[in-house]
Amino acid sequence: MKKIKISPSILSADFSELGKEIKRLEKAGADMIHVDVMDGHFVPNLTIGPPVIKALRKHCSLKFDVHLMISPVHEYIEAYADAGADIITIHPEATNNLSESIYKIKELKKKVGISLNPETKTDVIKKYLKDIDLVLIMSVHPGFGGQKFMPEVLDKVRELKTIHKDQNLTFDIEIDGGINFENSQSAIDAGANILVSGTTIFKSNNGDIKKNIELLKSS
Ligand code: DX5
Ligand code: ZN
Repeated sequence: MKKIKISPSILSADFSELGKEIKRLEKAGADMIHVDVMDGHFVPNLTIGPPVIKALRKHCSLKFDVHLMISPVHEYIEAYADAGADIITIHPEATNNLSESIYKIKELKKKVGISLNPETKTDVIKKYLKDIDLVLIMSVHPGFGGQKFMPEVLDKVRELKTIHKDQNLTFDIEIDGGINFENSQSAIDAGANILVSGTTIFKSNNGDIKKNIELLKSS
């Protein structure tokens, strides 16, 4: 079994201190940094883009796990690669040609992630599973932090885990949205090996992020 990794979402960090916040996450034992990019069009919220990611890059050495909730995404992939993204995750609904977008990310020597919204079926990505590095299962509707976890998406995690095992594939299974100390173990048991968390990491236990990262891995 793969080691469980925690990818804290900086959506819940103090935006006026993002450089310090990601340093703090690295010290606290985060495995990577989850960067939620929203465009106010694909999702009804706006966050940050390439210049901010580029400015943050020098503040920590962890991998940047960049979740693009923007449409159309294809023509922006290069800008995120140049800004310092290590993993670029896109939504199938945000591109006219998923294989071209996957190829583009690979060509730029970045890891490829594909994200499935709660209502998006695994069929959309089955033929790409051999070629990609990560599947991001959304356990809330994308757009905002602090929403309630949707346990029904765990069926997709289980299905992907079975394919992963049966076909001896290497992609990571990441889960994103509403992860807390009560449901993290169910996500791990279903087969997720990377947990994204914003609210739980930054707000629980008076913001003790080290404790919260440890608790998410062990609960
Ligand atoms: C939602 C984002 C998530 C979210 C996670 O669109 O993709 O990464 O910020 O935050 P919490 O843990 O608060 O649900
Ligand atoms: Zn995300």
